[in-house]
Amino acid sequence: MATTVALPKAAPFLTEQDYAAYTTAQHGIWAELVRRRMPQIEQHGAREYLDGFETLCLPFDRLPNLAAVSAKLHRRTGWNTTPVSGFMPAPAFFEMLAARCFPTTTWLRSRDSLEYTPEPDIFHDVFGHVPMHARPVFADFLEHYGQHCARIDDEAILERIGRVFWYTVEFGLIRQDGRVKVYGSGLISSDGECSNVLGSRCTVRAFNLNEVLRTPVKVDEMHHLLFAIESFDEIYEAMHTLEGRINQGSRLED
Ligand SMILES: [Fe+2]
Repeated sequence: MATTVALPKAAPFLTEQDYAAYTTAQHGIWAELVRRRMPQIEQHGAREYLDGFETLCLPFDRLPNLAAVSAKLHRRTGWNTTPVSGFMPAPAFFEMLAARCFPTTTWLRSRDSLEYTPEPDIFHDVFGHVPMHARPVFADFLEHYGQHCARIDDEAILERIGRVFWYTVEFGLIRQDGRVKVYGSGLISSDGECSNVLGSRCTVRAFNLNEVLRTPVKVDEMHHLLFAIESFDEIYEAMHTLEGRINQGSRLED
């Protein structure tokens, strides 16, 4: 589905997915990545993630066609997987989220870096993120996050709010059926990160907005502390709480 909303800040970064240009070898890399990740995800992935994956009929054996994914997703929650050229500045990123367009890269990692890429690729973006966008409460949270952040130009405040994104969208956990399940894209798409969290090296605490806001993001090491929600309503409500504090000019943390 073509993006029809105006995205003036993001416009320079919007691109097309040249699906026909992917090689057989690249489709094979996608299939290999999915094959490697699925056993752990089927066991430890959040119910909502697994439902989303099934709903969107994400392919196992070939790279996803973003227009086809968007068509299914849009019918369900109004979200799009919108192709972008790569890293985007924050205002453009927030503008896209606010318009229910998820910035999605089209390049794929090579076979010699299956486990790690310094920048997100299509596997991280689609396999890791997109299934959650089929869940209405998560979809609403993400749009709200974008709308709220798009109105803020204080870097220090944005960095603090970015911690909420990091500890939910990227590295979020949820308790289901008495166990910790993963839904954050960084955990879904990486065996190393996911195994670290499911093992004994990472402490899992109940999601608490104030503690999340006090916990800096460290991108260059495995996590020692992550947060588990009880339901997705929690993160939706956390954004409202945060927005209320900012609008009233009060401290971000209670
Ligand atoms: Fe991500």
